[in-house]
Amino acid sequence: MDKNLKPLVSAIQSGKKITFFLGAGISTSAGIPDFRTPGTGLYSNLAKFNLPFPEAVFDIDYFREHPTAFYILADELYPGKFKPTLFHFFVKLLENKNLLHRVYTQNIDTLERIAGVNDNLIVEVHGSFAKNHCIDCEKEMSTSELKAQMKKVSENEKVGIPKCLHCKGYVKPDITFFGEGLPQRFFELWEEDSDDVEVAVVAGTSLSVYPFASLPAEVSKKALRVLINQESVGDFKASRRKTDVLALDDCDTIAKEIVKLLGWESELEELSIKAEEKEEDEKEEEKEEEVKEKEAKEEDEKYDSGTKQKESTDDLSKDISKLTI
Ligand code: OAD
Ligand code: ZN
Repeated sequence: MDKNLKPLVSAIQSGKKITFFLGAGISTSAGIPDFRTPGTGLYSNLAKFNLPFPEAVFDIDYFREHPTAFYILADELYPGKFKPTLFHFFVKLLENKNLLHRVYTQNIDTLERIAGVNDNLIVEVHGSFAKNHCIDCEKEMSTSELKAQMKKVSENEKVGIPKCLHCKGYVKPDITFFGEGLPQRFFELWEEDSDDVEVAVVAGTSLSVYPFASLPAEVSKKALRVLINQESVGDFKASRRKTDVLALDDCDTIAKEIVKLLGWESELEELSIKAEEKEEDEKEEEKEEEVKEKEAKEEDEKYDSGTKQKESTDDLSKDISKLTI
């Protein structure tokens, strides 16, 4: 047993609520690379894009001129392909026990939501793929339209660049880029929460992007702070408090250890099995939906060719693309 974890386990047992501060390290076991780990991190593997600096891929000024790098990456990272990790289910289990105060996450993979954590408890500090807006006229674009445009690939392109249906400007998911403001929801909830943090668990982040990186330093001196990370970072390194708990190891390994100490192992396992079943049901529903859409499209095509005068192939394919979007 890791004696380090005792204060955290006791706090949980005494009913104190946990506020999480999360980063890419909690999703690496799902197969999503983090950003800054040398060798495997995203920023050391961006050579193919010839970026002026690695963060340019998430930089709003760079995106305005060169949106392709972001879209190739977005295509690889788009939510839907990845499953929550043991750590995500640990967070969900705390919610089920009414021990979750809030989850501040820098991650855009939405795995907290996919693990079933209530939307009200999640603050996506760097935004997410949930909505998309034009960077010029700011009109919203639906995710189905965005995905459809990403699929429209012409020669020499790996991915289509979605363009606004109103002004033809580039459209981008509502991920906060360098040079953009953070979501209003973050400021509102942090104002409300910052004095109420009883236990702060910081996990899987290098605490290098501000203002998120300053949050652990802002929690009350009375709060218990815990760092679950491969390395010591940020305020835990620079201004360590006497009561800080540092669990420097893999996130899933530590979460497993905590759950074991609490005697919740079978409940955690049940959660991931349920999520697996739910995902299979959803996939089945999606397939049925696709079949229905295909059938409807075929019906429409039959109707078009039966009732209308012969149109040019070009016009017809335009009509079909309108109907299917
Ligand atoms: P980083 O890549 O900067 O940091 C990830 C941290 O997690 C590092 O300290 C790793 O050592 C640690 N880590 C990796 N895998 C782990 C594991 N399995 N168990 C425990 N620790 C592990 O990622 P973030 O801190 O999330 O911004 O990066 C912050 C922001 O920088 C991101 O939100 C992104 C990026 O630019 C935007 O996209 C706007
Ligand atoms: Zn527009």
